[in-house]
Amino acid sequence: MTLPTGIAPWAPDTLARWNGTPTYIADEALKSTVSVAIALGRPLLVKGEPGTGKTLLARAIAEGLGLEMLTWHIKSTTRAQDGLYLYDTVARLNDARFGDRDVRDIAQYIKLGPLGEAFDRAGKDERVVLLIDEIDKADLEFPNDLLHELDAMRFRIAETGREVVAHLRPIVIITSNAEKELPDAFLRRCVFHYIDFPSEELLTRICRVHHPDIDDKLLTAALRQFIKIRTLAELRKRPSTSELIDWLAGLRLSGIDPEKLEQTVPFAGVLLKQEKDTQRLARTDLSRIGNRR
Ligand SMILES: Nc1ncnc2c1ncn2[C@@H]1O[C@H](COP(=O)(O)OP(=O)(O)O)[C@@H](O)[C@H]1O
Ligand SMILES: [Mg+2]
Repeated sequence: MTLPTGIAPWAPDTLARWNGTPTYIADEALKSTVSVAIALGRPLLVKGEPGTGKTLLARAIAEGLGLEMLTWHIKSTTRAQDGLYLYDTVARLNDARFGDRDVRDIAQYIKLGPLGEAFDRAGKDERVVLLIDEIDKADLEFPNDLLHELDAMRFRIAETGREVVAHLRPIVIITSNAEKELPDAFLRRCVFHYIDFPSEELLTRICRVHHPDIDDKLLTAALRQFIKIRTLAELRKRPSTSELIDWLAGLRLSGIDPEKLEQTVPFAGVLLKQEKDTQRLARTDLSRIGNRR
């Protein structure tokens, strides 16, 4: 097997390296995909419904490996170049007019972006986890431009002539809410994982991480209602794990009797955010729905 160039040698136990963390619940498939992406030095592309723990995954990987995490939050206007560095001409102009700094030293106006910083650190033998969050927000050019920068592992700051060279590959985690398809050339170079909506068993474990001392009966009753709500046809936006966690917090604060949950859904606005969905729930007698997913 040939590995992409620029990969630092890894110990033979590399594939066993990432095992989740006590506060991030990952199934076996996710654990092994993360480990193989790290071992291959390939970016890991994670897709899944909002709230399925994609962003948190990057944090958990960094935490599990004891590395620092840098975040690059992608917006519709983000360009790949912005991730490398920005030249703050406005600050320089201001200093030239009002300040007392030596404006001939351009380096002080160069701000490395998250990608640039990850390469810079890697050039100093410091591996970081780089989270490129919500890549599907950017325009179509972005993924291929990003790929180009990731492959190069080096860039030149035109204004100062400085070259930043990474010897190690940063661990790159890219998330997408699947709003847009990504180009084939981009996909070819990534390792891919789709985070399925968690099974009831996994969901229970995730809830326990966030509510360690929750009453068993309350958790079971709330999960049953939550799963039923997710099965309702025609929901515009099904509630996610993060909304379930908030809902549990609300239920606990209210001190509701778990047996009452069978008939009602208190604080439905924590779970459903569209009036059509709230109306849909109001028309439904959940106690008549079988307990299925
Ligand atoms: N596997 C998990 N383990 C622990 N908490 C989780 C997990 N998945 C989701 N969560 C909870 O849901 C919240 C939302 O996760 P987030 O990473 O922001 O989702 P996404 O980026 O997929 O929209 C997290 O802050 C966490 O509270
Ligand atoms: Mg996210």
